[in-house]
Amino acid sequence: MTHYSIVLLPGDGIGPEVVREARLTLEALAPRFDLDFSFDTHLMGGCAIDEHGNSLPDSTLLACQCVDAVLLGAVGGPKWDNPHAADRPERGLLALRKGLNLFANLRPVKLFPELIGASALKEEVLAGVDLLVIRELTGGAYFGPRQEAGASGEEAYDTMLYTRPEIERVVRVAAVAALQRRRKLASVDKANVLASSRLWRRVAVEVLKDYPDLEVEHVLVDAMAMHLIRRPASFDVIVAENLFGDILTDEAAMLAGSMGMLPSASLGDVMNTHGLPLGLYEPIHGSAPDIAGKGIANPLATILSTAMLLRHSLGQEAAAQAVEDAVARALAAGYRTRDIAGFDAPEKHVEVVSTEAMGAIVRGFLTEATA
Ligand code: IPM
Ligand code: MN
Repeated sequence: MTHYSIVLLPGDGIGPEVVREARLTLEALAPRFDLDFSFDTHLMGGCAIDEHGNSLPDSTLLACQCVDAVLLGAVGGPKWDNPHAADRPERGLLALRKGLNLFANLRPVKLFPELIGASALKEEVLAGVDLLVIRELTGGAYFGPRQEAGASGEEAYDTMLYTRPEIERVVRVAAVAALQRRRKLASVDKANVLASSRLWRRVAVEVLKDYPDLEVEHVLVDAMAMHLIRRPASFDVIVAENLFGDILTDEAAMLAGSMGMLPSASLGDVMNTHGLPLGLYEPIHGSAPDIAGKGIANPLATILSTAMLLRHSLGQEAAAQAVEDAVARALAAGYRTRDIAGFDAPEKHVEVVSTEAMGAIVRGFLTEATA
């Protein structure tokens, strides 16, 4: 039996609800794959501000540095939205990404065939969508020098700062990922306007000479925003700097029908006790305070994040596959949370279920398939 230690950061809003289902998924699968998990729950985000006056308490960061993987729900909410507050829930998340040096954020965008009707886009545009967006996560405008507009201040700025090594390492991650997929890589920038993008493009062109088997294109971010809804299936791996990647992945989520379907993995160069990357796994959606506590949030993005956790940080590919298969079967059987039920044709049989019920249905398929 292999032992794995995992930190859970449920966070705010719907975070605790979806993390609960993800944890139960891992627990259901453990005996079947001879795995042993220990879970340790810590505070991060708004709940940590309330309890400790700090969105990322030292104890939370330390706990995350010492485990095999971290599973996060979501952070933020109107309660902590005061623009003059010294700390914000989002700061905790950014500090955690930086503190673990998680520079590569993998956001796969795969459309489950049953959800074609849940997307606002036409079926012929969606056919064959299977993307992996790799977002640079510890640089750019999120972390560059900035000035807040103070109480009377009428001027503020952020700086999109990149260095060659920061660009090179994330482009290499993307290139290696593309080699394992359909060998196509699109590097996104705004090199016609931004200096940091001209450096990005120059470094990307140089680095990608090392990968002659890849079909490479350099795409301006505004054009990419358009291509993503016009011909999304023509892309395979997309690599982008932090802010561009943030925006493009919310857009790309609409291809999959709902933000509630997209998992993510954030990886860096810190290795865990199993010699694999210590990763942070989280759904790409936010804390959705408007639906928190109502039991209607979609837990599938977080459950799919556990599949990425099993794959990338634990090396348990078969278990990862089992989780993804169970999600596919739950959808094929017609079960939907509210966010993915919307556009289905009335004649199609779908059943709208709660967060907990969806988790239980996935576990049912998981244990049935691996019994
Ligand atoms: C994301 C989120 C975060 C980001 C927020 C919550 C800080 O939107 O993970 O995409 O902007 O990176
Ligand atoms: Mn985002």
